[in-house]
Amino acid sequence: MCGIIGYTGKKKVKDILLNGLELLEYRGYDSAGVAVVDEKTKETSVYKCAGRVADLRAVCKKQEIEATCGIGHTRWATHGGVNDDNAHPHCFGKVTLVHNGIIENYRELAVEYALEGKLHSDTDTEIAAAVFDHFYEGDPIAGIKNAVDKLKGTFAFVIMFADRPETIYSVRNVSPIVAAKTPEGTMLASDVTAIGGYTKQYFAVPEYHILEMTKEELHLFDFDGKEVKPSYVEIDFALNVSEKEGFPFYMEKEIAEQPGVIADLIAGKTKEDLPDFTEEGVADQLLYECENVTIVACGSAMHAGLLGQSLMKSLAKVPVTVELASEFMYSDPVITNQTLVIAVSQSGETIDTLEALKYAKAQGAKALSIINVRGSSIARESEAVIYTNAGPEIAVASTKAYTSQLAVFCLLALRMAYVRGKLSLDETKNYVRELKKVPDAMKEILGEKEKIHHIADGILEAKDIFMIGRGLDYAIMMEGSLKLKEVSYIHSEAYASGELKHGPLALITSHTPVIAVATQEKLLSKEVSNIREVKSRGADVVLFAKERILKEAGREYMSFALPDVKDEFMCLVAAVALQLLAYYVSSDKGFDVDKPRNLAKVVTVE
Ligand code: AGP
Repeated sequence: MCGIIGYTGKKKVKDILLNGLELLEYRGYDSAGVAVVDEKTKETSVYKCAGRVADLRAVCKKQEIEATCGIGHTRWATHGGVNDDNAHPHCFGKVTLVHNGIIENYRELAVEYALEGKLHSDTDTEIAAAVFDHFYEGDPIAGIKNAVDKLKGTFAFVIMFADRPETIYSVRNVSPIVAAKTPEGTMLASDVTAIGGYTKQYFAVPEYHILEMTKEELHLFDFDGKEVKPSYVEIDFALNVSEKEGFPFYMEKEIAEQPGVIADLIAGKTKEDLPDFTEEGVADQLLYECENVTIVACGSAMHAGLLGQSLMKSLAKVPVTVELASEFMYSDPVITNQTLVIAVSQSGETIDTLEALKYAKAQGAKALSIINVRGSSIARESEAVIYTNAGPEIAVASTKAYTSQLAVFCLLALRMAYVRGKLSLDETKNYVRELKKVPDAMKEILGEKEKIHHIADGILEAKDIFMIGRGLDYAIMMEGSLKLKEVSYIHSEAYASGELKHGPLALITSHTPVIAVATQEKLLSKEVSNIREVKSRGADVVLFAKERILKEAGREYMSFALPDVKDEFMCLVAAVALQLLAYYVSSDKGFDVDKPRNLAKVVTVE
C-alpha cells in the first residue's frame, strides 16, 4: 500500500507533491521520492530517499526545483528492502514511473526482457518500467496497453515519458487512483485525502483504462483507445477534518470524535427510532430474503463483524459466518444465491476483502458492503452500500471507523430482525433507544481517560499480555488486543476465558498481566470464576467491567468501571476504553502512534 500523487499545471509542483505525500503517508512510509520536469529544459529529475516525507523534503530543499509537473510516491515495501535505490520513482529508458501494488510475474519479465545487469533496484516496479519502455514507440496509449497486457498482479502506475514532457499517464488494476481537473491544472492521487484541498469533485480511474493528464485537461481512454467520460463524485468531507486540531496524534483525535460520529450515524440511519436504510438504497428484501449471511473483512473490520454475527443470530435468528477475507476464497466456503455477503472495510480498498466479495458474488451471493470511503473499489463492487460517514480516519489504527461499523451492524441486525418478524415494532424501537445511550457512555469514558492512562502506565514494560473475555467480551478483546499490538508493539493475545484451562493457563504465572472485560450479564458468573482462576495463579489482573459487576466481582483487582448500556451494545463502549489503553501505552513509549512500524492504513496487496 503506497501513496501516489501527480500534478501538471500552472503552479509550482514541488510543494504540491511533498504536501500531498505527507497527507498520503499513512498509506506507507518507509521511503519517498518525486520526479519533476524542469519547466525550461523539460528534463526529468528524480529525488528520493529511504525515510519519511520529511527526509525527502530535506533532500529537495537542497535542489533548485523549477517545475510545474511531477509525480511523487511514499512507499510500503513489498519487493526489495528499505533503501534509497528501492524508493520510487523508478526510471528505465524514456519511462519514469511510480507504482502501488505487486507485479507477480516480475521475475519472468526480467528474463523475457533480458534485464540482467540493467537494473538499479530489487523492485518489481523497476522491471515494470522496463516493460513500459520496451513497448513505448511514441504512442503512449498503445504502449501502455501493450505493456499492461504483459503484467500479472495489482497495480496503480503513474507514468511520464521523456519525449512527452509535462504530460502524466496512469493505469490501474485493483490499486486505487483518483483524479481531478482543477482551475490550475490536473492532478491524481491514491485517494482523495491528497487532492481534497484543490477540488470538490473527483473521479476514480476505472480499472484497465488509461488516464492522460495535461496542464489544461484530462482524457480517459479504454483499452480500445476509445475516449470515455469520467464519472465525477463530490468530496463528502470538509478538508479541515483531516487536521489534528490540537491533538498530539490523529488516533487520539479520532478516539475523541466517536461520541459525535456514533450519535450522527444513529440519527442518520433511523426514523422515529426504527432503523432505516432507505437513503442508502438497502432494500428490506435484501434482509428478509437471504437464508444466511457471510461477513468478509480483515482486522478491526472483521472484529466488527463478530458483533454483527452475534446480533443477527440472536435477534434475527439468521445463520451468520464471519470469515477472514484473506482466508475466505481458499476455505471452500458454502455460498449460494440465498447468501447475503457483507463486506466491511473502512478504506473500501482492502484487496483481500475486495477479492473475497468478488468471489462470493461469483458464487451467486447478493453483495452489501459497510464502507467509510465513498466511491471506493469495494463500494463500486457492491449492490448496496451502507456508508459509516465517520469522516477521514488517518491513524493506521482503526477507532471511529471500527465503532461506526459496530453501530451499523447493530442497526442492520435490528432492521433484519424487524423485517423478518423476529422483533416487534416496539421491541425494535426499544433496542434503538438503548443504542442511543452509547454516545453519552463513550463521553463518560473520555471524561475519565486519565484513569485509563494510569492503567496503561502499569503495563508499559509488559512483554506478553493476556486479554480474556467470554462471548461478546471475547470479540471485544480480539479488537482490544489488535489495538495494543499494532500501536504499542507489545505481544498480546485475546483468549476466550473458558479456553484458558484447556492449555493457555499453563502460561499464567506470578505477575503475568491479564486484562479482563466483563459486560455480559448472562456470562458473569463464569467470567468471574475464570478471572479468579488466573488471579489464583499469580496474574496481575486489570478488569474493565460495568459498575454493578465490579461490586460483585470484588475490588481485589485494578479496575475501570464501564458505563452501563444494554449488553448487546457494550462492545461500542468497551472499545473506547481499550483504544485509550493502547493509545497511552504507545504514546508513553514514545512511538509514532499514527504510523506504527511495518503497517499502513490501506492494505492493497494480498
Ligand atoms: C485496524 O486497526 C488495522 N489498521 C487493520 O486491521 C484494518 O482494520 C484492516 O486492515 C482492514 O482495513 P479496512 O477496514 O480499510 O478494510
